[in-house]
Amino acid sequence: MKSTITILLGVSALLAGCGPKLAPGLVGDPMRGKIAAAQYACHSCHVVPGVPGSDVRVGRPLDELAQQRYIAGKLPNTQANLVRWIRDPQAIDPGNAMPNMGVSERDAIDISAYLLSH
Ligand code: HEC
Repeated sequence: MKSTITILLGVSALLAGCGPKLAPGLVGDPMRGKIAAAQYACHSCHVVPGVPGSDVRVGRPLDELAQQRYIAGKLPNTQANLVRWIRDPQAIDPGNAMPNMGVSERDAIDISAYLLSH
């Protein structure tokens, strides 16, 4: 039992050490955001960093989002605006090809934390 706990602690320390690090000034859990991005299948339209085999370019690649000034050419690139975009792109740019995907607020925060930490 004790050794199981030791192993678990060791594995989680290892994961924490290797996982994406939250960039300064951001909130959320980037490791969880990476998983959420895969679950919502963002990579069915975007190149998403860390999601192997994502090579679809319906939307722009998201691997250098942190360096961009604007999100979708519409919103100044802040974490709050990125959360807005991920949750409701149709309100910001009606008729664009990214659908509203019912992303929860928490998932959107974590996904934004992940994308902006690259
Ligand atoms: C059906 C295809 C599709 C899916 C699925 C999709 N997107 Fe998009 N996304 C787009 C398109 C198309 C644009 C470009 C809109 C524009 O620039 O006006 C876009 C734009 C974006 C942008 C702005 C990119 C930039 O360079 O400014 C972000 C960020 C983004 N999407 C994140 C996501 C996330 C996160 C998910 C998963 C929750 C997701 N997208 C799912 C099609 C999609």
